[in-house]
Amino acid sequence: MKKLRLGVLASGGGTNLQAIIDRCADNSISAEIAIVICNNPDAGALDRAEKAGIKTCCINHRDFEKRAAFDHKVVQQLQEAEVDLVVLAGFMRIVGSIFLEAFPQRVINIHPALLPAFPGLHVQQQAIDYGARFSGCTVHFVDIGVDTGPIILQATVPVLEGDSADDLAARILVEEHKLYPQAIQLFAEDRLRIEGRKVKILPAATELSP
Ligand code: GRF
Repeated sequence: MKKLRLGVLASGGGTNLQAIIDRCADNSISAEIAIVICNNPDAGALDRAEKAGIKTCCINHRDFEKRAAFDHKVVQQLQEAEVDLVVLAGFMRIVGSIFLEAFPQRVINIHPALLPAFPGLHVQQQAIDYGARFSGCTVHFVDIGVDTGPIILQATVPVLEGDSADDLAARILVEEHKLYPQAIQLFAEDRLRIEGRKVKILPAATELSP
């Protein structure tokens, strides 16, 4: 089976990127990272990618007057790298129509809350302040809204008494690192179908009997 070519976009430390690098390396997902693009020159994700011998590209959004010009540049790099699936892994820029038209139904994101609860930023603190007993993470297709696209997979974690936002974020990240590779593998196996606002997961292909 041809490996799925991933374009990973990241802005920060890159622990989700690392989980994907590791699962590609041990062949638990049939994918390879064709390029890692960061908008932040100091992103730890760039170091992780370079260490793994993956092509990197830093496109600083501050160098662009208009968002559209930045978006076009990123899309151009993804297309040149012949990416099949765009994976947002802590990418702190809004992905708009320029991305979605270039990669229809081919952009996914991971969010550290159980959507549709707590979209946006600082969501671990929001979950704590709200008194939620559980939070978690969501992998979803990206649409034109913020954290509104069809949900692929979710995992839950408890919110414990006295949790700080960092405590909860760390507990959620453990699940993120398992969930994102799983979702990518479902995509690689062509088992995801968007039906309206829902994602149907097709059963695994069974071995054909002789
Ligand atoms: C993760 O919590 C992810 O859900 C959110 O941004 C964070 C990125 O962390 N979108 P990392 O850079 O992968 O460590």
